[in-house]
Amino acid sequence: MGYAETYKSWQDDPEGFWMAQAGAIDWDQPPSKALFDEAAPLYEWFKDARVNTCWNALDRHVEAGRGAQTAIIYDSPVTDTKQHISYAEMRDRVALMAGALATRGIVSGDRVIIYMPMVPEAIVAMLACARIGAVHSVVFGGFAANELAVRIDDATPKAIIAGSCGIEPGRVVEYKPLLDGAIEQASHKPEFCVIFQREQCVAELVEGRDVDWHAAQDGVAPAGCVPVSGDHPAYILYTSGTTGAPKGVVRPTAGHLVALNWTMKNIYNVNPGDVFWAASDVGWVVGHSYICYAPLVAGNTTVVFEGKPVGTPDAGTFWRVMAEHRVASFFTAPTAFRAVKRVDPKGDFLEKYDLSALRAIYLAGERADPDTIEWIANLTGKPVYDHWWQTETGYTIAGNPAGLEALPVKIGSPTVPMPGYDVQILGDDGHPLPAGELGAIAIKLPLPPGTLPTLWNAEARFRSSYLTAFPGYYETGDAGMKDEDGYLWIMARTDDVINVAGHRLSTGAMEEVLAGHPDVAECAVIGVADALKGQLPMGFLCLSNGVNRPHEEIVAEVIQRVRDQIGPVAAFKLALVVERLPKTRSGKILRATMAAIADGRDYKMPATIDDPAILDELTEAMKAIGYPQG
Ligand code: COA
Ligand code: AMP
Repeated sequence: MGYAETYKSWQDDPEGFWMAQAGAIDWDQPPSKALFDEAAPLYEWFKDARVNTCWNALDRHVEAGRGAQTAIIYDSPVTDTKQHISYAEMRDRVALMAGALATRGIVSGDRVIIYMPMVPEAIVAMLACARIGAVHSVVFGGFAANELAVRIDDATPKAIIAGSCGIEPGRVVEYKPLLDGAIEQASHKPEFCVIFQREQCVAELVEGRDVDWHAAQDGVAPAGCVPVSGDHPAYILYTSGTTGAPKGVVRPTAGHLVALNWTMKNIYNVNPGDVFWAASDVGWVVGHSYICYAPLVAGNTTVVFEGKPVGTPDAGTFWRVMAEHRVASFFTAPTAFRAVKRVDPKGDFLEKYDLSALRAIYLAGERADPDTIEWIANLTGKPVYDHWWQTETGYTIAGNPAGLEALPVKIGSPTVPMPGYDVQILGDDGHPLPAGELGAIAIKLPLPPGTLPTLWNAEARFRSSYLTAFPGYYETGDAGMKDEDGYLWIMARTDDVINVAGHRLSTGAMEEVLAGHPDVAECAVIGVADALKGQLPMGFLCLSNGVNRPHEEIVAEVIQRVRDQIGPVAAFKLALVVERLPKTRSGKILRATMAAIADGRDYKMPATIDDPAILDELTEAMKAIGYPQG
C-alpha cells in the first residue's frame, strides 16, 4: 500500500488502523479496544492493556534469538571512545540498574529525574525506569541549576540519576555542582541520587544521599519487567511554553510503543538490524523517541553520539560516523548541517567516506531552509526529507513516508500528514481555510496514539494551551498553510516560543529573568534570524529611573543571569538598553514588529501603535549592534 491508500485506510477506520499496528507489540494483556473517548476532549489509547516498554525494547529481541545483535553503538569523539553493546548485554545492564532502583524503594509510578550526558548509561537509566514502571524525566545537560530545580519541584522525583559531567568542546561541564545547587533550591528533595562518575571529572558524593552508579548495583538482584497499564506515563519531558514554567509533556506507555514502532519502517525505512542514527541529545524529544525508544523497540541498532557536528574533531565527523557504522537512516536538525556547511562548504571531508549504506537523511526540530536541504542533497546524492513534529506529539505529524512510498519532495515543505493526523489550517474564527491560505495549524481531535494525553499535574493548562482556542482541535502553536497537493508549509510560531539551534526556548522565560535584574524596569525578548542557529534571542532593556551605571555593565549582567538561570543552551548573548519599547495603545509590546526590524524584513505599521517614533529609535539602536545583519 502506498501513502494515499494507507492514509485513507486510517481515515476510514482509525481504530482498526491502530489496532492492526498494535499487533507488532508484545502485550502482557492486549488492549480490548484502541480509543477511550469517555473523557473527550481528553483521549486515551489502549488504556486497558498491560505492557512493559523495556520488554519491548530489549528482552523480546533477546528471547527471539537476536541477543547478540548490537543494540547501541556509542561513538564519542570527545572522549575518544567507541563501544558496541549487544541487546543481551543491554538487557542485563538495564535489569541490574532497575534492580538497584527497586532495592532502594523505587516502585511503579515513582518519578526519577535523569541528568546525564550522551553516554550509554543515560539509555540504561531510562530503560531501567521503564523496566519497573518508574516515570523518568530527562533534563538536558545545557540547562542551569534553576531549570533543574523547577523540574524537581514539578515532577517530585524520588531519585535523581546524574552523570558527574558532560563534555563540551574545550571544556568539561561539571554536572554535580549544578545538581547540588538545584536540590538546594528546590522545595522537594529526592531520597537519593545515583552518580555516574566519569574519569574526566570525579564528583564528590554527598554522604547519605548520593550513591555511586556501580556501588548502587553491587549485590543487587536484576529486576524483571513490571507490566503497567496502557495509559501509565512512560515519561515526562519538559518543554518550553509561553511562560517561564515549563510544560511537562506526559507520554502514555502503550500508544508510545505502537506509534513509534510504526514510524521506524514506514517513515525512516529501516528494518530490524539496520543502523539508525539520530544526532540529537537524550534531553530532547528526538533523543527520547529516536535515540532510545523507537529504534530499540523496532530492533534496530541505535547510535549514541557524544560530540558536535564540527570541532570534534572536524566537520567530517558526521560522515565518518555514518560510514564507519554503516548508518542506513540519519536524522538531525538543519542547524547541525548548517554548522558543517559553514566550515566545509565544498564538502571536502565527505570524499574520505563511503556512504553507500545510507538511504536517506531526515531533518526536523526547526524550519529546514532550502539552501541547506539542497546543499546536503547535492553533496550526498541522498534524499533529504524534512519532517515536522513537536515534543507534544513525540513523532512525525507531517513527513515523507519513505518506507511506504517516497513522495516527491517539495523543498521547504515537510510533505504530508501522517496517518493519525487530520491537519487543518484554521482562520481566526476557527474555520478551515482553503489551500494556499495562511492560518493556525491545528489537528482534529483525537490526536493519535503516543501523543500527549495531558500535561503533568496541569490538566487545566493542557486544556487552555492546546484545546481551547479551536474547540475540537489541538492547537499546534505553528502557523502555515496547505497547498493544492495537500503538502504542508510551516511558516512561524504563533506564540512566544523561539527555536535556537533546534532547541525550543521561551522568550517569556528569558523576560522573567531579565525583569529580575534590579536595574531593569521593563524588558522584551524576541527571536532574530541567525544564519547558523536559525534564531537567536535578543533582549531589550528599559532601565529604572535614576540608574546611571554604564549600559555595557548591565548588559553583561543580564547575559550572565540568563546563562545562570536558564543555561548556556539559551545562547542569550544579544541585549541592548533602549529608552522605550514599542507598544499598542492597550500596552501590548509589539514583539513581531521588533523582530521584523531586527531581521530587516518589511513590516506594516501596526494600526494600534501608540507612538510610531519609537520604531525609529529602535531601528537606530539595533543598527548600533549590527542588526539587521548583512
Ligand atoms: N551541556 C552543557 N552545555 C551545553 C550542552 C550540554 N549538553 N549543550 C550545549 N551546551 C552549551 C554549549 O557549550 C554552548 O555554550 P557556550 O555559550 O559556552 O558556547 C551553549 O550551550 C549553546 O550550545 P549550542 O546551541 O549547541 O551551540 P554551539 O555553538 O555549541 O553549537 C551547533 C552549535 C549547531 C553545532 C549545535 O547546536 C548542534 O550540534 N546542534 C544540533 C542540533 C540538535 O542537536 N538539536 C536537538 C533537536 S533535534
Ligand atoms: P520541539 O518541541 O522542541 O520539537 O519543537 C517543536 C517546534 O519546532 C514545532 O512546533 C515547530 O515550531 C518547530 N519545528 C519542528 N520541526 C519543524 C520543521 N520540520 N519545520 C518547521 N518547524 C519545525
